[in-house]
Amino acid sequence: MARARRRPAASADVKAGGRLQAGRLRRSASVGADAAAPLSIVILAAGQGKRMRSTLPKVLQPLAGQPMLAHVLTLARSLAPQSIHVVYGHGGERVRAAFAEPSGAVQPGSMVQPGGVVHWVEQAEQLGTGHALAQAMPGVGKDQQVLVLYGDVPLLRTATLEQLRVSAGAGVALLTATPPEPAGYGRIVRDARGRIARIVEDRDASATVRRIREVNTGVLVAPARQLTRWLAALKPRNAQGELYLTDIVAMAVRERVPVQPLGVADAAEALGINDKVQLAQAEAHYRRRRACELLARGVTLVDPARLDVRGEIEVGTDVVLDVNVVLEGPVRLGNGVHIGPHCVVSRTSIGDATVLQANCVVQDAVIGSDCSVGPFTRMRPGAQLAKGAHVGNFVEIKNSRIGERSKVNHLSYIGDAEIGSGVNVGAGTITCNYDGANKSQTRIGDRAFIGSGSMLVAPVTIGAEATVGAGSTITSDAPAGKLTLARSRQVTIAEWQRPRRKGPGA
Ligand code: UD1
Ligand code: CA
Repeated sequence: MARARRRPAASADVKAGGRLQAGRLRRSASVGADAAAPLSIVILAAGQGKRMRSTLPKVLQPLAGQPMLAHVLTLARSLAPQSIHVVYGHGGERVRAAFAEPSGAVQPGSMVQPGGVVHWVEQAEQLGTGHALAQAMPGVGKDQQVLVLYGDVPLLRTATLEQLRVSAGAGVALLTATPPEPAGYGRIVRDARGRIARIVEDRDASATVRRIREVNTGVLVAPARQLTRWLAALKPRNAQGELYLTDIVAMAVRERVPVQPLGVADAAEALGINDKVQLAQAEAHYRRRRACELLARGVTLVDPARLDVRGEIEVGTDVVLDVNVVLEGPVRLGNGVHIGPHCVVSRTSIGDATVLQANCVVQDAVIGSDCSVGPFTRMRPGAQLAKGAHVGNFVEIKNSRIGERSKVNHLSYIGDAEIGSGVNVGAGTITCNYDGANKSQTRIGDRAFIGSGSMLVAPVTIGAEATVGAGSTITSDAPAGKLTLARSRQVTIAEWQRPRRKGPGA
C-alpha cells in the first residue's frame, strides 16, 4: 500500500473553499523544487462536459469499458507519486460513488488498482482549470513537484510523463502535441527565438494564432510553491470568463522561469476528449494500442482492428484470436489457445490448446487444457472445465465443474453441479437446481451416461457408471452401474381412430 506520507488517510477528503488565496507578488527567477523533488499529481476532473450531451459526467464516460477517470488514475499510480489529488465537481456524488472502495476501486480486472490514497477535492463551482487546480494546492506540500493531468486526457503513457518530469527539472515543463486537427485546443505561442511565450485558448485566438498547429495537451509539471502563487494571480480575462490554468505559462515566462516544451511523438496519446466523436477516436486508438501489444507478444490476430482488449491479459505462444473477440482482463490464455469469432471472454483462465469456437460468452470461468467449447456456449461465474472436456452449442454452465474428457455437447443447462470424468451428458439435459428459494447440488459420478432430455431434480446424485434413460425426470439418487428410468411407459391404442370432420368436403 503506497500511502501518501503527508496526510493521514482519514483526512483524504478536502473541501477547499471556492476562493483563491492572495498570492505574494514577489517576482523571482528562482524555483522552489529540484529535479528530485517528490511528486504530487493533481487530476482535474470537475468539468461537466457539455459537449458530450449526456447526463453522465464526462469523466465517467466509458473508454474501453472503464470510466475515463479510471484510466487517468491508473496512469497517475503508475508514476508512484507521493500523493494523488482528484478535483471533482460536476455530478460529484456519481463520480465519488463510481470510485468508492471496494466496488469501484478494487473490482477484479478493474483499471483502478487497489492501494494508493487518493485525495478527493471538491470544486463546487466550475470556474476554470486554474481555479480547479487552486482547490487542490492547499493539500499539496510546498516542496513538491506537481504534475497536472486532465480527467479527459486518458491515453497518455507513463514513459511520456516520466520524460516530462525530467524536462521540467526544477522548473516548468509543458507537454505539447501537433495533432492533424488542432481546432479546440489551446495554441502554443512562441517568441522570435522559438521559446514558449504563452498559451492562447482556441476561443480567444486570432485567425493567425489559430493557424498554429502546436497545441497544449493540458499536461504540465511545475514546482508547487510557484504554482500556488501563479494560480492566485490568475484573472478571468477571456472569452469564457474563467480562470485558465494555461495563463500561468506567460507568468512563468515573465519571471524568467524557463518553460520546457516536450512534444509528444504520437498526438493520439494526448487526445483530449470533449465529445462523442473524440471518445470514439480514443476508443479506436486504445484498441489499436492493445492489439499492437498482443502482436508484439506473438499473438496472431485475424484483424487487429476488430479486437477489444481491456485489463490485464497473459498469453502463451501461438495464440490465435479471430475477429470481434472481446477480452476483459484478467484473462490468461495458454499456449496454442484458439478463440473463434465473436467471443467475449472475461476474467477467465484458458489452458493450453483449448479451442473456443464462434460466439461463446465466458465470464469468471476456469477452462483447462485441450478443451473444446462452443459454438454458442455460455459459461457463467464458477464454471470449470477439466482437461479435455467438451461443451457444445447452446449449453449454459454456472458454478459447476465438468471433469476430464466429459461431454455436454448440446442444449443443456448445468448449474451447481459436480460432474466426474468421462461422463456423457445427453442433449437437452437440465439440472433443476432452483426451487424458487434455494439452489441445490447435482452430483454425477465418473463415466455416467445421462440420456437426452433428462431433468435432474437437485439435490440428486447419479452414481458412477450409472445410465439414465432418455427423457427421465430424476428426483431420487440413481445407483451406480445401473440403468435408471423415470418416464411413463409408451402405449399404442390399437382401436383408436382419428376424428373426422362431418358435412360437405369431409
Ligand atoms: C483545455 C486547455 C487547453 C488544452 C486542452 C487539452 C485550459 C484553459 N485549456 O481546454 O489549452 O488544449 O484542455 O485537452 O486549461 N475542469 C475542471 N474544472 C473546471 C474546468 C475544467 O476540473 O472548472 C477539468 C475538466 O473536467 C477537464 C479538464 O479540466 O478534465 C479540461 O477542461 P475542458 O473544459 O475540457 O478544457 P478544454 O476546453 O478542453
Ligand atoms: Ca478537454
